Amino acid sequence: MPNAQSDRDALEAVYELTQGATAQRNWRKLLILGDTFDVQLKRKLLWIWPTAKNLMQFQLKLNELRIQNVLSIGCGNGLLEWLLTAVGAEDSLRVYGLERDANWWRSKYAIRSFIPLNYIESSEYNCQLSGDFLRQCCCGLPPQALLFCYFNNRVAFLEYLSAFAGSWLIIIGPQPSLGIHTDPNPLQPELPDCNRWALHSLINWTEHNVVALYKKLP
Ligand SMILES: C[S@@+](CC[C@H](N)C(=O)[O-])C[C@H]1O[C@@H](n2cnc3c(N)ncnc32)[C@H](O)[C@@H]1O
Repeated sequence: MPNAQSDRDALEAVYELTQGATAQRNWRKLLILGDTFDVQLKRKLLWIWPTAKNLMQFQLKLNELRIQNVLSIGCGNGLLEWLLTAVGAEDSLRVYGLERDANWWRSKYAIRSFIPLNYIESSEYNCQLSGDFLRQCCCGLPPQALLFCYFNNRVAFLEYLSAFAGSWLIIIGPQPSLGIHTDPNPLQPELPDCNRWALHSLINWTEHNVVALYKKLP
């Protein structure tokens, strides 16, 4: 049974570690703290908690591919994006976030956001969604990669993909054997034929999760 007060204390400790000019140095401490949380609280903060090794492998891969500008769709409170940015050497990676339902994320019930969030309103996203909009979400820079972590909305996924002009798609999610449904799934994403995508790299995250990087073919 989760204890509300201890959850509040735990969240305060997370907020403290992630605030301030030098907070990014605390990313390992944050992972260690996260390990002490019960499953429910962990899940509230982040769907999968990567290890330090996972994060560093991911960072190395993005460095190798010269991917510096990533837009994470459905980023929740942005804790994963905060971690990804923190692991990178100064300014080597910028990860921006996009969520739907601004009212919820700005409400007193939501967990505070760890990165500045951009919002899209579900009711109008068909007309709002464009290459320009995706660029605005990245402070005016065109995103090189779209990231989907535990995303589960096929229709929206296809809309984002068709508005995206960059070359990289990063999907983080469960191994099929885990029995958790996400759409797209990293290993079976069923990408549309109109742009041809090829699997470029796979990185295992924890025992049950995987990061798949797809490249758009010319
Ligand atoms: C399972 S959560 C994963 C959150 C986060 N990526 C993580 O790993 O902890 C899926 C998120 O996708 C968001 N989402 C669903 N449809 C969306 C859409 N059309 N545009 C942006 N975000 C969307 C939901 O609001 C939710 O926060």
